[in-house]
Amino acid sequence: MAAIAAARSESDLLDAKGRFFGKKGAVSGILKGVAGLPVEERKAIGDLANRARAELESAFDARLAGIREQERGRSEGRERIDVTLPGRAPMPGHRHPVSQTMSDILSAFRRLGFSVQCGPDVETDYYNFEALNFPPEHPARDMQDTFYVESGTGDLVLRTHTSPVQIRTMERRKPPVRIIAPGTVYRSDSDITHSPMFHQVEGLAVDRDITMADLKGLLTEFCRMTFGPTTPVRFRPSYFPFTEPSAEMDIRCVLCGGSGCRVCKESGWLEILGAGMVDPMVFGFVGYDPEEYAGFAFGMGIERIAMLRHGISDIRLLFENDIRFLSQF
Ligand code: PHE
Repeated sequence: MAAIAAARSESDLLDAKGRFFGKKGAVSGILKGVAGLPVEERKAIGDLANRARAELESAFDARLAGIREQERGRSEGRERIDVTLPGRAPMPGHRHPVSQTMSDILSAFRRLGFSVQCGPDVETDYYNFEALNFPPEHPARDMQDTFYVESGTGDLVLRTHTSPVQIRTMERRKPPVRIIAPGTVYRSDSDITHSPMFHQVEGLAVDRDITMADLKGLLTEFCRMTFGPTTPVRFRPSYFPFTEPSAEMDIRCVLCGGSGCRVCKESGWLEILGAGMVDPMVFGFVGYDPEEYAGFAFGMGIERIAMLRHGISDIRLLFENDIRFLSQF
């Protein structure tokens, strides 16, 4: 009882317990000795020994509870929390500049009445080229050299643009159609302005009486929403097999304001997208009557727009995911 009372910590107490109740402890010795006593004494001594053990055990338990209670009181004193201190806010992350740009572009077109459609990254030659009026061996295929997927038949490719979504959508729906199709595209191309994997947003509108004026009006409005209300824009004639006529759209160089610099190659203009009126040949592939319907389409590279908005000079920075770079946006 004195040893129990003297214990100041849980480990003191367990020490004492070992000394008396352990294999060679005093209490254990007495309990073992009971068996060897003469029969007349065995019962009386046994009862006493058991009572003594029970008393000691409950004294141990009581002391243990007491020590734990004291310990808790001490640590509460030490670890007291000052609830009046200001909190530590978690450091919020944010979206990648490509995702940000993508979602801004999509929300601009949603406001203009377009809905979002998606298509597969691994495409057939038919949707990526053939139905977009690139016959086999057509030289325009060279502009979009891609990665071919081993499939036995040799007709699976990683899509080189989001234009196949035009075909997939028109196959499923009758006009009017107004869609935008965001997604990942692939080309065998790599330098400071080209990445073998990048993103595009495609647009397609088909209805009765759609003209090139609708195309120009819509894209001019989009550029004002994205690059500022006074950004000058221009359209230049171009060529795509699936649009006729075809155009490319430029905005006034955001870096030099038009006076000429390295980024705009001294021209004062930056190309941001390809577009045109849907070629009647394409309507033929999806069963739309070109006498009844007309449409326009456009496609733009997201990385390029993100680079222009933020003045980023090397596309590869967007994919290295260095936090020192990403945290600037
Ligand atoms: N798909 C074309 C490209 O990737 C862009 C484009 C889309 C052009 C739609 C015209 C119409 O280069």
